[in-house]
Amino acid sequence: MRFGVFVQVPGHHVGGWRHPDAVTTDWPNLRLMQHIAAAAERGKFDMFFLGDGFATGYDEHPSTIGKFEPLTLLAALAMTTSRLGLAATASTTYAEPYHVARGFASLDHISGGRAAWNVVTTAYSKSSAVFGRQHPPHSERYAMAGEFVEACRLLWDSWDDGAFIGDKQAGRFVRPGSLHIPRFDGKYFSVEGALNVPRAPQGHPVLIQAGSSGPGQALAARIADVVFTAQNDPVEAVTFYRALKAQVEAFGRHADEVLVMPGVMPIIGDTEAAAQVTFAELNQNIDARQAFTVLSERLGMDMSGYPMDGPVPTPPPTEHLKSRADLLIEMARRDNLTLRELTYRVAAARGHLLVIGTPPQIADVLECWFRSGAADGFNIMPPFFPGQFDAFVDGVVPILQQRGLFRADYAGKTLRDHLGLKRPVRN
Ligand SMILES: Cc1cc2nc3c(=O)[nH]c(=O)nc-3n(C[C@H](O)[C@H](O)[C@H](O)COP(=O)(O)O)c2cc1C
Repeated sequence: MRFGVFVQVPGHHVGGWRHPDAVTTDWPNLRLMQHIAAAAERGKFDMFFLGDGFATGYDEHPSTIGKFEPLTLLAALAMTTSRLGLAATASTTYAEPYHVARGFASLDHISGGRAAWNVVTTAYSKSSAVFGRQHPPHSERYAMAGEFVEACRLLWDSWDDGAFIGDKQAGRFVRPGSLHIPRFDGKYFSVEGALNVPRAPQGHPVLIQAGSSGPGQALAARIADVVFTAQNDPVEAVTFYRALKAQVEAFGRHADEVLVMPGVMPIIGDTEAAAQVTFAELNQNIDARQAFTVLSERLGMDMSGYPMDGPVPTPPPTEHLKSRADLLIEMARRDNLTLRELTYRVAAARGHLLVIGTPPQIADVLECWFRSGAADGFNIMPPFFPGQFDAFVDGVVPILQQRGLFRADYAGKTLRDHLGLKRPVRN
Protein backbone atom coordinates (compact mmCIF):
# COMPACT_ATOMS: atom_id res chain seq x y z
CA MET A 1 0.00 0.00 0.00
CA ARG A 2 1.19 3.57 -0.76
CA PHE A 3 0.32 6.76 1.05
CA GLY A 4 0.29 10.42 0.13
CA VAL A 5 -0.87 13.19 2.43
CA PHE A 6 -2.91 15.83 0.59
CA VAL A 7 -1.89 18.93 2.51
CA GLN A 8 -4.52 21.64 2.40
CA VAL A 9 -4.30 23.67 5.62
CA PRO A 10 -6.04 24.38 7.98
CA GLY A 11 -7.97 21.34 6.72
CA HIS A 12 -10.02 19.70 3.98
CA HIS A 13 -13.36 19.98 5.79
CA VAL A 14 -14.87 23.43 5.11
CA GLY A 15 -15.55 23.73 8.88
CA GLY A 16 -12.18 22.21 9.84
CA TRP A 17 -10.35 25.50 10.51
CA ARG A 18 -12.76 26.33 13.37
CA HIS A 19 -11.99 23.13 15.29
CA PRO A 20 -10.15 24.03 18.54
CA ASP A 21 -7.20 21.80 17.58
CA ALA A 22 -6.76 23.28 14.09
CA VAL A 23 -3.77 25.63 13.74
CA THR A 24 -4.78 28.97 12.15
CA THR A 25 -2.20 31.45 13.49
CA ASP A 26 0.91 33.08 11.85
CA TRP A 27 -0.62 32.54 8.40
CA PRO A 28 0.73 31.10 6.18
CA ASN A 29 2.38 28.92 8.81
CA LEU A 30 5.70 27.33 7.81
CA ARG A 31 6.18 25.57 11.15
CA LEU A 32 2.81 23.82 10.69
CA MET A 33 3.98 22.59 7.26
CA GLN A 34 7.26 21.38 8.74
CA HIS A 35 5.30 19.54 11.46
CA ILE A 36 3.05 17.82 8.89
CA ALA A 37 6.05 16.81 6.75
CA ALA A 38 7.85 15.42 9.80
CA ALA A 39 4.75 13.44 10.77
CA ALA A 40 4.42 12.06 7.23
CA GLU A 41 8.07 10.97 7.26
CA ARG A 42 7.62 9.42 10.72
CA GLY A 43 4.72 7.47 9.18
CA LYS A 44 6.95 6.37 6.24
CA PHE A 45 4.60 8.06 3.79
CA ASP A 46 5.49 8.07 0.08
CA MET A 47 4.66 11.71 -0.48
CA PHE A 48 3.53 15.11 0.77
CA PHE A 49 1.20 16.64 -1.85
CA LEU A 50 0.28 20.29 -2.33
CA GLY A 51 -2.65 21.18 -4.58
CA ASP A 52 -2.80 24.55 -6.30
CA GLY A 53 -5.15 27.03 -7.96
CA PHE A 54 -5.30 30.74 -8.66
CA ALA A 55 -8.62 32.06 -7.44
CA THR A 56 -9.15 33.54 -3.97
CA GLY A 57 -11.86 35.44 -2.14
CA TYR A 58 -14.00 35.42 1.04
CA ASP A 59 -16.33 32.68 -0.22
CA GLU A 60 -13.64 30.26 -1.37
CA HIS A 61 -12.76 27.07 0.53
CA PRO A 62 -10.91 28.40 3.63
CA SER A 63 -7.86 26.28 2.78
CA THR A 64 -7.38 27.86 -0.64
CA ILE A 65 -7.75 31.57 0.25
CA GLY A 66 -4.17 32.31 1.46
CA LYS A 67 -1.19 29.94 1.14
CA PHE A 68 2.41 29.32 -0.03
CA GLU A 69 3.33 28.87 -3.70
CA PRO A 70 3.87 25.10 -3.82
CA LEU A 71 7.36 24.70 -5.34
CA THR A 72 8.78 27.40 -3.09
CA LEU A 73 7.42 25.65 -0.01
CA LEU A 74 8.56 22.19 -1.12
CA ALA A 75 12.11 23.44 -1.60
CA ALA A 76 12.05 24.58 2.03
CA LEU A 77 10.61 21.25 3.21
CA ALA A 78 13.33 19.40 1.29
CA MET A 79 15.69 20.83 3.89
CA THR A 80 13.83 19.36 6.89
CA THR A 81 13.05 15.93 5.41
CA SER A 82 15.20 13.21 3.82
CA ARG A 83 12.96 10.48 2.38
CA LEU A 84 9.50 11.98 1.94
CA GLY A 85 8.37 12.55 -1.65
CA LEU A 86 7.49 16.18 -2.42
CA ALA A 87 4.61 16.61 -4.88
CA ALA A 88 3.02 19.78 -6.19
CA THR A 89 0.40 20.78 -8.69
CA ALA A 90 1.32 22.90 -11.68
CA SER A 91 -1.08 23.98 -14.41
CA THR A 92 -0.61 23.14 -18.08
CA THR A 93 -3.16 25.80 -19.11
CA TYR A 94 -1.70 28.81 -17.28
CA ALA A 95 2.07 28.17 -17.44
CA GLU A 96 5.00 27.55 -19.82
CA PRO A 97 6.73 24.16 -20.22
CA TYR A 98 10.20 25.67 -19.71
CA HIS A 99 9.35 27.20 -16.31
CA VAL A 100 7.55 24.11 -15.03
CA ALA A 101 10.29 21.74 -16.25
CA ARG A 102 12.97 23.87 -14.62
CA GLY A 103 11.14 24.20 -11.32
CA PHE A 104 10.57 20.46 -10.86
CA ALA A 105 14.06 19.50 -12.09
CA SER A 106 15.52 21.92 -9.53
CA LEU A 107 13.32 20.53 -6.75
CA ASP A 108 14.46 17.03 -7.69
CA HIS A 109 18.11 18.09 -7.33
CA ILE A 110 17.48 19.99 -4.07
CA SER A 111 15.62 17.02 -2.55
CA GLY A 112 17.95 14.28 -3.81
CA GLY A 113 15.32 12.76 -6.14
CA ARG A 114 11.96 13.24 -4.36
CA ALA A 115 10.04 15.56 -6.72
CA ALA A 116 6.61 14.86 -8.23
CA TRP A 117 4.38 16.99 -10.47
CA ASN A 118 0.57 16.80 -10.42
CA VAL A 119 -0.30 17.67 -14.02
CA VAL A 120 -3.57 19.63 -13.96
CA THR A 121 -5.40 21.56 -16.66
CA THR A 122 -6.99 24.03 -14.14
CA ALA A 123 -10.68 23.34 -14.44
CA TYR A 124 -12.07 26.59 -13.05
CA SER A 125 -12.79 29.27 -15.68
CA LYS A 126 -12.52 32.04 -13.07
CA SER A 127 -8.75 31.39 -13.04
CA SER A 128 -8.42 32.87 -16.52
CA ALA A 129 -9.03 36.45 -15.33
CA VAL A 130 -5.76 36.66 -13.36
CA PHE A 131 -3.91 35.78 -16.57
CA GLY A 132 -6.07 37.98 -18.82
CA ARG A 133 -6.85 34.98 -21.03
CA GLN A 134 -9.82 33.05 -22.38
CA HIS A 135 -10.42 29.76 -20.52
CA PRO A 136 -10.09 26.90 -23.04
CA PRO A 137 -12.80 24.24 -23.26
CA HIS A 138 -12.29 20.88 -21.52
CA SER A 139 -11.05 18.84 -24.51
CA GLU A 140 -8.66 21.56 -25.60
CA ARG A 141 -7.20 21.84 -22.10
CA TYR A 142 -6.33 18.15 -22.23
CA ALA A 143 -4.86 18.43 -25.73
CA MET A 144 -2.69 21.29 -24.42
CA ALA A 145 -1.66 19.18 -21.40
CA GLY A 146 -0.48 16.34 -23.65
CA GLU A 147 1.82 18.68 -25.59
CA PHE A 148 2.97 20.42 -22.40
CA VAL A 149 4.16 17.15 -20.83
CA GLU A 150 5.88 16.04 -24.04
CA ALA A 151 7.79 19.34 -24.21
CA CYS A 152 8.79 19.02 -20.53
CA ARG A 153 10.10 15.48 -21.06
CA LEU A 154 12.30 16.68 -23.92
CA LEU A 155 13.56 19.54 -21.75
CA TRP A 156 14.40 17.14 -18.86
CA ASP A 157 16.44 15.12 -21.35
CA SER A 158 18.50 18.13 -22.50
CA TRP A 159 21.62 16.77 -20.80
CA ASP A 160 23.06 13.30 -20.34
CA ASP A 161 23.30 12.03 -16.78
CA GLY A 162 26.63 13.08 -15.30
CA ALA A 163 27.28 15.67 -18.03
CA PHE A 164 28.63 18.27 -15.62
CA ILE A 165 32.15 16.92 -15.03
CA GLY A 166 33.90 20.14 -13.87
CA ASP A 167 37.24 18.89 -15.22
CA LYS A 168 39.61 21.75 -14.35
CA GLN A 169 42.66 19.95 -15.73
CA ALA A 170 41.10 19.43 -19.12
CA GLY A 171 39.29 22.76 -18.92
CA ARG A 172 35.93 21.11 -19.44
CA PHE A 173 33.04 22.01 -17.17
CA VAL A 174 30.61 19.99 -19.28
CA ARG A 175 31.37 16.75 -21.14
CA PRO A 176 31.34 17.29 -24.93
CA GLY A 177 28.43 15.64 -26.71
CA SER A 178 26.29 15.56 -23.57
CA LEU A 179 23.90 18.32 -24.70
CA HIS A 180 20.78 17.44 -26.71
CA ILE A 181 18.79 20.51 -27.75
CA PRO A 182 15.03 19.81 -27.61
CA ARG A 183 12.94 20.88 -30.58
CA PHE A 184 9.20 20.60 -30.08
CA ASP A 185 6.67 22.19 -32.36
CA GLY A 186 3.06 21.62 -31.37
CA LYS A 187 -0.30 23.27 -31.96
CA TYR A 188 -0.22 25.00 -28.55
CA PHE A 189 3.43 24.99 -27.45
CA SER A 190 6.79 25.06 -29.19
CA VAL A 191 10.18 24.78 -27.57
CA GLU A 192 13.63 25.12 -29.11
CA GLY A 193 16.48 25.22 -26.63
CA ALA A 194 17.88 23.24 -23.74
CA LEU A 195 17.03 23.38 -20.05
CA ASN A 196 19.77 25.11 -18.03
CA VAL A 197 19.42 22.55 -15.22
CA PRO A 198 21.45 19.30 -15.28
CA ARG A 199 19.48 16.08 -15.69
CA ALA A 200 17.66 15.38 -12.45
CA PRO A 201 18.38 12.53 -9.98
CA GLN A 202 15.13 10.77 -10.95
CA GLY A 203 15.65 11.57 -14.64
CA HIS A 204 12.11 12.93 -14.71
CA PRO A 205 10.06 13.86 -11.61
CA VAL A 206 7.23 11.44 -10.86
CA LEU A 207 4.18 12.46 -12.93
CA ILE A 208 0.74 12.50 -11.29
CA GLN A 209 -2.56 13.06 -13.08
CA ALA A 210 -5.88 13.71 -11.36
CA GLY A 211 -8.51 13.88 -14.10
CA SER A 212 -11.01 10.99 -14.32
CA SER A 213 -13.05 11.96 -17.39
CA GLY A 214 -12.44 10.20 -20.73
CA PRO A 215 -9.73 12.70 -21.82
CA GLY A 216 -8.37 12.72 -18.25
CA GLN A 217 -8.01 8.94 -18.13
CA ALA A 218 -6.49 8.84 -21.62
CA LEU A 219 -3.83 11.38 -20.64
CA ALA A 220 -3.17 9.53 -17.38
CA ALA A 221 -2.83 6.17 -19.13
CA ARG A 222 -0.28 7.67 -21.53
CA ILE A 223 1.89 9.79 -19.22
CA ALA A 224 1.16 9.26 -15.51
CA ASP A 225 3.11 7.30 -12.89
CA VAL A 226 0.43 7.97 -10.28
CA VAL A 227 -3.29 8.68 -10.72
CA PHE A 228 -5.21 10.59 -8.06
CA THR A 229 -8.98 10.13 -8.17
CA ALA A 230 -12.14 10.80 -6.17
CA GLN A 231 -14.18 7.67 -5.45
CA ASN A 232 -16.74 6.95 -2.70
CA ASP A 233 -18.21 3.59 -3.73
CA PRO A 234 -16.01 0.43 -3.57
CA VAL A 235 -17.64 -1.20 -6.61
CA GLU A 236 -17.34 1.94 -8.75
CA ALA A 237 -13.76 2.34 -7.57
CA VAL A 238 -12.83 -1.16 -8.77
CA THR A 239 -14.47 -0.43 -12.14
CA PHE A 240 -12.47 2.80 -12.46
CA TYR A 241 -9.25 1.05 -11.43
CA ARG A 242 -9.66 -1.75 -13.97
CA ALA A 243 -10.69 0.58 -16.80
CA LEU A 244 -7.67 2.80 -16.25
CA LYS A 245 -5.19 -0.11 -16.05
CA ALA A 246 -6.63 -1.49 -19.29
CA GLN A 247 -5.97 1.85 -21.00
CA VAL A 248 -2.41 1.84 -19.62
CA GLU A 249 -1.81 -1.52 -21.27
CA ALA A 250 -3.46 -0.28 -24.47
CA PHE A 251 -0.67 2.33 -24.59
CA GLY A 252 1.89 -0.50 -24.41
CA ARG A 253 2.75 0.17 -20.78
CA HIS A 254 2.65 -2.35 -17.92
CA ALA A 255 -0.30 -1.93 -15.52
CA ASP A 256 2.12 -1.78 -12.56
CA GLU A 257 3.77 1.30 -14.04
CA VAL A 258 0.78 3.34 -12.88
CA LEU A 259 -0.45 3.53 -9.28
CA VAL A 260 -4.07 4.49 -8.56
CA MET A 261 -4.53 6.44 -5.31
CA PRO A 262 -8.08 7.56 -4.37
CA GLY A 263 -8.52 10.31 -1.80
CA VAL A 264 -9.76 9.41 1.71
CA MET A 265 -10.92 11.68 4.55
CA PRO A 266 -10.45 9.74 7.83
CA ILE A 267 -12.18 11.25 10.87
CA ILE A 268 -10.56 9.47 13.80
CA GLY A 269 -11.68 9.02 17.42
CA ASP A 270 -10.75 6.77 20.35
CA THR A 271 -14.26 5.38 19.98
CA GLU A 272 -16.63 5.46 17.01
CA ALA A 273 -18.96 7.70 19.02
CA ALA A 274 -16.14 10.17 19.66
CA ALA A 275 -15.32 10.26 15.94
CA GLN A 276 -18.98 10.93 15.12
CA VAL A 277 -19.01 13.78 17.67
CA THR A 278 -15.99 15.34 15.93
CA PHE A 279 -17.77 15.01 12.56
CA ALA A 280 -20.89 16.68 13.95
CA GLU A 281 -18.80 19.53 15.40
CA LEU A 282 -17.11 20.08 12.04
CA ASN A 283 -20.47 20.22 10.26
CA GLN A 284 -21.76 22.80 12.71
CA ASN A 285 -18.86 25.05 11.72
CA ILE A 286 -19.62 25.03 7.99
CA ASP A 287 -20.02 28.47 6.39
CA ALA A 288 -22.93 28.02 3.95
CA ARG A 289 -21.58 30.50 1.38
CA GLN A 290 -18.22 28.69 1.25
CA ALA A 291 -19.94 25.30 1.09
CA PHE A 292 -22.03 26.49 -1.86
CA THR A 293 -18.96 27.77 -3.67
CA VAL A 294 -17.29 24.37 -3.29
CA LEU A 295 -20.42 22.52 -4.48
CA SER A 296 -21.35 24.87 -7.35
CA GLU A 297 -17.79 24.84 -8.70
CA ARG A 298 -17.73 21.06 -8.81
CA LEU A 299 -21.16 20.80 -10.42
CA GLY A 300 -20.41 23.68 -12.80
CA MET A 301 -23.72 25.30 -11.83
CA ASP A 302 -24.84 27.79 -9.17
CA MET A 303 -27.05 25.83 -6.76
CA SER A 304 -27.93 28.71 -4.49
CA GLY A 305 -31.43 29.32 -5.93
CA TYR A 306 -32.83 25.82 -5.32
CA PRO A 307 -34.81 24.59 -2.25
CA MET A 308 -32.30 23.10 0.20
CA ASP A 309 -34.58 20.28 1.30
CA GLY A 310 -35.58 19.41 -2.25
CA PRO A 311 -33.90 16.95 -4.59
CA VAL A 312 -30.59 17.87 -6.23
CA PRO A 313 -31.24 19.43 -9.65
CA THR A 314 -29.44 17.81 -12.60
CA PRO A 315 -26.79 20.24 -13.87
CA PRO A 316 -26.10 20.65 -17.60
CA PRO A 317 -22.84 19.06 -18.88
CA THR A 318 -19.89 21.07 -17.48
CA GLU A 319 -16.60 22.22 -19.02
CA HIS A 320 -15.12 22.30 -15.49
CA LEU A 321 -14.57 19.08 -13.51
CA LYS A 322 -16.50 16.58 -15.65
CA SER A 323 -15.91 13.40 -13.63
CA ARG A 324 -16.48 15.14 -10.31
CA ALA A 325 -19.87 16.50 -11.36
CA ASP A 326 -20.89 12.99 -12.48
CA LEU A 327 -19.58 11.46 -9.24
CA LEU A 328 -21.53 13.89 -7.03
CA ILE A 329 -24.80 13.50 -8.92
CA GLU A 330 -24.40 9.68 -8.85
CA MET A 331 -23.83 9.84 -5.08
CA ALA A 332 -26.89 12.10 -4.60
CA ARG A 333 -29.10 9.76 -6.63
CA ARG A 334 -27.66 6.57 -5.07
CA ASP A 335 -28.12 7.83 -1.50
CA ASN A 336 -31.26 9.83 -2.30
CA LEU A 337 -29.73 13.04 -0.92
CA THR A 338 -31.41 16.43 -0.65
CA LEU A 339 -29.48 19.49 -1.82
CA ARG A 340 -28.68 20.28 1.84
CA GLU A 341 -27.32 16.76 2.49
CA LEU A 342 -25.19 16.87 -0.67
CA THR A 343 -23.85 20.32 0.27
CA TYR A 344 -22.74 19.00 3.66
CA ARG A 345 -21.16 15.86 2.16
CA VAL A 346 -19.21 17.95 -0.35
CA ALA A 347 -18.19 20.48 2.31
CA ALA A 348 -16.60 17.55 4.14
CA ALA A 349 -14.76 15.39 1.58
CA ARG A 350 -15.69 16.88 -1.87
CA GLY A 351 -16.89 13.47 -3.11
CA HIS A 352 -13.85 11.52 -1.88
CA LEU A 353 -14.27 8.52 0.46
CA LEU A 354 -15.21 9.60 3.99
CA VAL A 355 -14.44 7.13 6.81
CA ILE A 356 -15.42 7.91 10.42
CA GLY A 357 -14.26 5.69 13.28
CA THR A 358 -11.43 4.28 15.38
CA PRO A 359 -7.97 3.49 13.96
CA PRO A 360 -8.78 -0.25 13.54
CA GLN A 361 -12.04 0.65 11.75
CA ILE A 362 -10.22 3.03 9.38
CA ALA A 363 -7.52 0.40 8.75
CA ASP A 364 -10.22 -2.18 7.94
CA VAL A 365 -11.79 0.02 5.25
CA LEU A 366 -8.42 0.81 3.63
CA GLU A 367 -7.45 -2.87 3.72
CA CYS A 368 -10.78 -3.83 2.14
CA TRP A 369 -10.40 -1.32 -0.76
CA PHE A 370 -6.76 -2.32 -1.27
CA ARG A 371 -7.44 -6.09 -1.27
CA SER A 372 -10.49 -5.72 -3.53
CA GLY A 373 -8.39 -4.04 -6.23
CA ALA A 374 -9.88 -0.54 -5.88
CA ALA A 375 -6.58 1.15 -5.04
CA ASP A 376 -2.77 0.78 -4.95
CA GLY A 377 -2.69 3.35 -2.17
CA PHE A 378 -4.49 6.38 -0.78
CA ASN A 379 -4.22 10.16 -0.65
CA ILE A 380 -5.02 11.05 2.96
CA MET A 381 -7.14 14.21 3.40
CA PRO A 382 -7.44 15.09 7.12
CA PRO A 383 -10.45 17.28 8.04
CA PHE A 384 -8.04 19.56 9.92
CA PHE A 385 -4.31 19.66 10.72
CA PRO A 386 -2.24 18.75 12.58
CA GLY A 387 -4.25 16.68 15.14
CA GLN A 388 -6.22 14.45 12.79
CA PHE A 389 -3.16 13.72 10.62
CA ASP A 390 -1.01 12.87 13.68
CA ALA A 391 -3.80 10.53 14.78
CA PHE A 392 -3.66 8.77 11.40
CA VAL A 393 0.16 8.46 11.44
CA ASP A 394 0.35 7.26 15.04
CA GLY A 395 -2.91 5.27 15.13
CA VAL A 396 -3.73 3.78 11.73
CA VAL A 397 -0.28 3.34 10.12
CA PRO A 398 1.10 1.01 12.87
CA ILE A 399 -1.95 -1.27 12.42
CA LEU A 400 -1.36 -1.49 8.66
CA GLN A 401 2.35 -2.17 9.29
CA GLN A 402 1.45 -4.96 11.74
CA ARG A 403 -0.83 -6.45 9.07
CA GLY A 404 2.09 -6.37 6.60
CA LEU A 405 0.18 -4.01 4.30
CA PHE A 406 2.48 -0.98 4.60
CA ARG A 407 6.24 -0.50 4.80
CA ALA A 408 7.89 -0.51 8.24
CA ASP A 409 10.72 1.61 6.86
CA TYR A 410 11.92 3.23 3.64
CA ALA A 411 14.05 0.91 1.48
CA GLY A 412 15.23 3.51 -1.04
CA LYS A 413 16.09 7.20 -1.21
CA THR A 414 14.09 8.58 -4.14
CA LEU A 415 10.34 8.82 -4.61
CA ARG A 416 10.60 6.42 -7.57
CA ASP A 417 12.29 3.94 -5.19
CA HIS A 418 9.39 4.25 -2.73
CA LEU A 419 6.79 3.80 -5.48
CA GLY A 420 8.67 0.96 -7.20
CA LEU A 421 8.91 2.95 -10.44
CA LYS A 422 11.67 2.77 -13.02
CA ARG A 423 13.97 5.78 -13.63
CA PRO A 424 13.31 7.08 -17.18
CA VAL A 425 16.38 6.76 -19.38
CA ARG A 426 17.29 9.68 -21.61
CA ASN A 427 15.71 9.00 -25.02
C1 LIG B 1 -6.67 14.28 -5.45
C2 LIG B 1 -6.93 15.36 -6.47
C3 LIG B 1 -6.17 16.51 -6.43
C4 LIG B 1 -6.41 17.53 -7.35
N1 LIG B 1 -5.66 18.66 -7.27
C5 LIG B 1 -5.92 19.69 -8.11
C6 LIG B 1 -5.19 20.89 -8.00
O1 LIG B 1 -4.29 21.01 -7.18
N2 LIG B 1 -5.50 21.92 -8.84
C7 LIG B 1 -6.49 21.81 -9.79
O2 LIG B 1 -6.72 22.78 -10.52
N3 LIG B 1 -7.21 20.66 -9.92
C8 LIG B 1 -6.95 19.62 -9.09
N4 LIG B 1 -7.67 18.47 -9.20
C9 LIG B 1 -8.75 18.42 -10.22
C10 LIG B 1 -8.28 17.62 -11.44
O3 LIG B 1 -7.13 18.17 -12.01
C11 LIG B 1 -9.38 17.58 -12.50
O4 LIG B 1 -9.69 18.86 -12.93
C12 LIG B 1 -10.64 16.95 -11.96
O5 LIG B 1 -10.33 15.72 -11.36
C13 LIG B 1 -11.67 16.75 -13.04
O6 LIG B 1 -11.10 16.07 -14.08
P1 LIG B 1 -11.94 15.70 -15.37
O7 LIG B 1 -12.45 16.97 -15.95
O8 LIG B 1 -10.95 15.00 -16.24
O9 LIG B 1 -13.02 14.81 -14.93
C14 LIG B 1 -7.44 17.41 -8.31
C15 LIG B 1 -8.21 16.24 -8.36
C16 LIG B 1 -7.97 15.22 -7.45
C17 LIG B 1 -8.79 13.97 -7.52
